[in-house]
Amino acid sequence: MRRPLLAGNWKMHTNILEAYLLVAEIGKCAAGLNDRDVILAPPNVALNAVSRVLLDSDVLLASQNVCWAEEGAFTGEISPAMVKSAGAVASIIGHSERRQIFHEDDEMINKRVLGAVEYGLIAIFCIGETLEERESDTTFDILEAQIRKGLAGVTAEAMKNMVVAYEPVWAIGTGKTASKEQAQEVHAFIRKLLAEIYEKAIADSVRILYGGSVKPDNVDELMAQPDIDGALVGGAALNAESFCRIINFN
Ligand code: 13P
Repeated sequence: MRRPLLAGNWKMHTNILEAYLLVAEIGKCAAGLNDRDVILAPPNVALNAVSRVLLDSDVLLASQNVCWAEEGAFTGEISPAMVKSAGAVASIIGHSERRQIFHEDDEMINKRVLGAVEYGLIAIFCIGETLEERESDTTFDILEAQIRKGLAGVTAEAMKNMVVAYEPVWAIGTGKTASKEQAQEVHAFIRKLLAEIYEKAIADSVRILYGGSVKPDNVDELMAQPDIDGALVGGAALNAESFCRIINFN
């Protein structure tokens, strides 16, 4: 019912030539995979160049963040219209690195989400708890607050363009994946909360991705969980062979 979505977030890795070559390889192994979506988020500066390699491909592109305004005095930002003109259809928003390193708070992330959906971009809205929060048993409170604040003002109609990515901070780049049971428990919680905020039909149609040390050797068991609809992959998306294995999950 929900079409699987495998997304690669390259973070601040690859120059334009490296991005171009990597996208070309991934594009080849994604050819013919028509029962799932594949999205790549190279550095924003490489979006336009790699979009040219993907002209004949089903692989889609995302920016790694997006501003709420169409244009203006926002030094260092990229607008939804710019994202689209560079050939992308989606934006990652609220990544834990944006929250932690760059101090983006729920209110700012909410503005970015609203901006993205207003301009017709798919918003890949990230949430996740820290290790300290998990150990103090506040995971569900933290995630609920992130969702309620991040999605404030997002209409039921706009939920068609929303993807939620659950990325426990303690699992990002650490090699410590959430177990399939831990991830499924949180995904089911998120879906139940979405049903409360919106309605069951909407909750049932929103794709919820898991992110945090997704690798070729754990993707199959994660994807077998009923509420895990895809993956947001960091490190393993920087290598064509491992990302190809991930998008070809069983
Ligand atoms: P890793 O897959 O490297 O843990 O990164 C996950 C992530 O942050 C994707 O957005």
